[in-house]
Amino acid sequence: MGGPDHEREGQGASKTLLRFLTCGSVDDGKSTLIGRLLYDSQLVLEDQLAALVADSRKLGTVGNDIDFAFLVDGLQAEREQGITIDVAYRYFATGKRKFIVADTPGHEQYTRNMATGASGADLAVILVDARKGLLTQTRRHSFIVHLLGIRHVVLAVNKMDLVAFSEARFDEIAAAYREFAARLGIPDVTCVPVVARTGDNVCRPGETMGWYKGPSLLAILEETEAGQDPSGRPFRMPVQLVSRPNADFRGFSGNVVSGRVAPGDKLTVLPSGRVAEVARIVTADGDLAVAKAGDAVTIVLAEEVDVSRGDVLTAAAERPQVADQMAAHLIWMGDEPMLPGRPYHVKCGTQAATATVSALKHKINVDTLEKTAARQLGLNDIGLCNLSFSRPLVFEPYDTLRELGSFILIDKLSNATVGAGLIRFGLRRAEHVHWQALTIDKAARAAAKHQKPCCLWFTGLSGSGKSTLADLLDKRLHADGRHTYILDGDNVRHGLNRDLGFADADRVENIRRVAEVAKLMVDAGLIVIVSFISPFRAERRMARDLFQEGEFVEVFVDTPLEVCEQRDPKGLYRKAREGLIKNFTGIDSEYERPEAPELHLLTEQASPEALVDDILADLARRSSA
Ligand code: ADX
Repeated sequence: MGGPDHEREGQGASKTLLRFLTCGSVDDGKSTLIGRLLYDSQLVLEDQLAALVADSRKLGTVGNDIDFAFLVDGLQAEREQGITIDVAYRYFATGKRKFIVADTPGHEQYTRNMATGASGADLAVILVDARKGLLTQTRRHSFIVHLLGIRHVVLAVNKMDLVAFSEARFDEIAAAYREFAARLGIPDVTCVPVVARTGDNVCRPGETMGWYKGPSLLAILEETEAGQDPSGRPFRMPVQLVSRPNADFRGFSGNVVSGRVAPGDKLTVLPSGRVAEVARIVTADGDLAVAKAGDAVTIVLAEEVDVSRGDVLTAAAERPQVADQMAAHLIWMGDEPMLPGRPYHVKCGTQAATATVSALKHKINVDTLEKTAARQLGLNDIGLCNLSFSRPLVFEPYDTLRELGSFILIDKLSNATVGAGLIRFGLRRAEHVHWQALTIDKAARAAAKHQKPCCLWFTGLSGSGKSTLADLLDKRLHADGRHTYILDGDNVRHGLNRDLGFADADRVENIRRVAEVAKLMVDAGLIVIVSFISPFRAERRMARDLFQEGEFVEVFVDTPLEVCEQRDPKGLYRKAREGLIKNFTGIDSEYERPEAPELHLLTEQASPEALVDDILADLARRSSA
């Protein structure tokens, strides 16, 4: 790149860049429209194109494998996981402006693609077929566009030739759309009638629609004000890497996502809050006197302060927020539903933690914009949630800074990206709740009881024998002078969990609560026996993660479904088969077998007494280990 043509560009150097995306389906003529734009503008000079690509690389937000800022880390994660996102980026330029257009297909994974394509975009072109008018899809796309903070929308009413270039038809569609967009709160809407096939009103006025006095689509694209330059905002740089090539050099590398920084500036490292001064700004091409949004740099601090990947370097005087609970819109992209209480990996910029949705405030019906109560989010659903994180995250509301205002959620078991979050605000509820240090700790309590506290977690189908084994084990331990307690599913569901049923979302919350209670009991020095079906791997793992190494013993009570059903101690299988009980484990609700339990009990092959002997022997081994 960067040949003489690039240097020559005169007005080109000051040419602004507009990033936009197109939404609509193939049937609406989307590809034709994009083709038209590219072909008719005909100003796509090779060197300009190269310069543009280079610019984008420099910005750090787009590039060869384009990373729009929003899902930067997420995209990387996805690439590592071999998931492709079907977003095609195209570059073109006119005498007035440079463009990057993200073309997102309209198939079922559209939320994921749109969220990716729309991130960083200044404008969205939403395409409709003049014959069909506004569709559910049009409203969905508009809603997502709005959610992603895109302020300018162009409704391109295509195939005007097929409605005899009817002004009335265009007015009707435009009016309906303006009404919908106003309800959403999209500040700038322009409607343009086009025929993509012939190019009418795409790059030039169409004689066929003399009644239309407005600008062509391209003229709109050329005139729309691009987003604000983030270098005018306070300085923020998420640390991607601590660079330590030798003992004399220690620098922090990353992309400046907003603001500027110069040697001598005072920075605050968040979340720790330590303050330090910038000594040098190092790049591959030498030191910089100033770095600004879009630059990839390595910052050397004058003082020795602790900084690690995931920390954010910020202007000392204007700090972003730090919180471990937030309200955010969540766009769900997972095939498996989002269940409140289930832990997910979260990546927010370069920060990583565990996140759970603590409350799903509402789901949004994107056709009617109605807010409805919901227990979970399915594929393509959008909801407003409260989330809680395993550690405080440095963030800004999405509307202030997309890079620090968005995150992705990753399934802990499959490693797939399942959700994209747009942070609305931090929740202060935890701000004044501090961990209280207590004098008598777990070790002291355990010592008083002369035992090693632990949690024996029995999992298995209903009727598998969990309660029988738990009870027998409890008797033996008790007789031996151990201090124990049994948490049994049926019993806990009479009190603490009486508000919960058997839908997946309820079972997740059921296990979350009992795991927390078990943890408290282990902290109290007890040997806790938990006997719950606990059918999902994710929640058994969540329970395990609450405990210290060696404290959690997963006991798989493995009895084949046929045998459980034959025993049917409570007559529940019969009722489930008759359809009288819904969501019955093993019948119409899944049981995910443990993959690596500490103990695997095959109940058909041994008596309960013998199995309890095995458990006790195992416990003895563990406590002497
Ligand atoms: S869990 O799946 O959420 O862990 P839990 O162990 O608390 O279940 O409760 C299971 C007990 O509830 C069963 O032993 C059975 O007696 C009763 N039960 C009632 N309805 C169902 C159902 N749909 N599925 C499974 N168990 C049910």
